[in-house]
Amino acid sequence: MRDKFIIEGRHKLKGEIDIWGSKNASLPIMAASLLNSGDLILDNVPPVKDNLTMAEILRYLGLSVEFLEGDKVHIKGEPKGYRAPYELVSRMRASFELMGPLLAYFGEAEIPYPGGCRIGLRPVDLHIKGFESLGAEITVDKGFVCARAKKGLKGAKIHLDKPSVGATRNIMMAAVLAQGETIIENAACEPEVVDLGNFLKSMGAEIEGLGTSTIYIKGKKELKPIDYYKIIPDRIAAGTFIIAGIMIGKDLVIKNIEPEHLQSLFIKLKEAGVNSLQIRDREVRVKGEKVWKGIEVTTMPYPGFPTDLQPQMMVFLSLAQGTSLIVETVFENRFLHVGELLRLGAKISIDGRTALIQGVEKLKGAPVEATDLRAGAALVLAGLVAEGVTEVLDVDEHIDRGYVALEEKLSALGANIKRVSYEEGKKVSDLSL
Ligand code: EPZ
Repeated sequence: MRDKFIIEGRHKLKGEIDIWGSKNASLPIMAASLLNSGDLILDNVPPVKDNLTMAEILRYLGLSVEFLEGDKVHIKGEPKGYRAPYELVSRMRASFELMGPLLAYFGEAEIPYPGGCRIGLRPVDLHIKGFESLGAEITVDKGFVCARAKKGLKGAKIHLDKPSVGATRNIMMAAVLAQGETIIENAACEPEVVDLGNFLKSMGAEIEGLGTSTIYIKGKKELKPIDYYKIIPDRIAAGTFIIAGIMIGKDLVIKNIEPEHLQSLFIKLKEAGVNSLQIRDREVRVKGEKVWKGIEVTTMPYPGFPTDLQPQMMVFLSLAQGTSLIVETVFENRFLHVGELLRLGAKISIDGRTALIQGVEKLKGAPVEATDLRAGAALVLAGLVAEGVTEVLDVDEHIDRGYVALEEKLSALGANIKRVSYEEGKKVSDLSL
């Protein structure tokens, strides 16, 4: 059985929503907890599917992991194995980030080669080159990437060809226990990289330059256990609700956010003529807008416009006055939602990595398929604002990876949305609510 959302559009969103912790920060921090031999509570870790998968892998490796009330996870114990199982790793690419901490802890690690995924090929060559620079020998055996550094890792200067978020984090986790200094040049500056760095620092790791493109790490013999760490808010979830609020909100307050992490979104919204956002210390108040205009958006590594908000922004621009351009520079195939948006009446054409969007007056409900996590979120936004009923299929496989019970959160704000199970293969119903 699969799950779908059935959404009757045009119901205004009103009220308050608390934004949960960032899954793209909690995933590597859970992986890094392999290096914390104590009894740890990680706070602000929502039970989204990806976090549950990471918990399962950590259990397989010998840790005890328990989700508690209030988005807390209790992790304790020490890892007993350094080989992660294919069945679990294949569900989620971020599990490749277990390699750094396992290699640091055991001097060896074996992780299944992560396959491509729908948004692009997503190779791991930069991770592997980084581990090799630290002195690990890498082989691929029966689909597993095997890394060995029996005599320990040695600090090195590593220049990344691209500021990869995952490679920066994986190398950082390995380098904190390497001998000597590691310098990562062209490092990713994303807040989720900084959060992992701060977690490692709280265990005594010596790291400088977090949030800049050069990170310096002085390897330690060992780290000290800590018992509590709180994960940063999810900037992509916050952005998703902000865009929803502008399109179909009456008076929506989005709380527990870090406005600094959303600057590139705020700048683009202003350029499109959105002037009603009230940004405070840890919240944004959004009043619905009636009209906005087309703009150009290019996705870039942080602090540029995030690729993870590109599909949601495309829905917004589909309803803008005039023409917009979106250039996707991070992933080579992240326009899968376009075909689905066309079904709802959007006017979009694609040429390579550029989408040309001709604003339309309205979208009209139809059955559509979530093809990846953020594309799914974008289709939900489209359903909320469209006339009539929209069905978003494959919600459990994609949207649940990063948004917990999204339908409940939206219903509490006034949306008309429900989750329904359906048999695979029997996809489309009669669109009745
Ligand atoms: C992280 O993925 C996020 N995932 C992604 O979130 C996000 O879209 C992405 O960063 C970019 O911001 C997590 O944090 C768990 P990258 P990651 O390595 O680390 C290429 C979501 O919806 N590359 O920065 O895999 C790669 O193919 C998602 O929450 C190499 O060529 O992203 C891509 O084109 C999906 N070789 C670019 O770099 C490598 O070895 C950026 O990827 C590694 C990456």
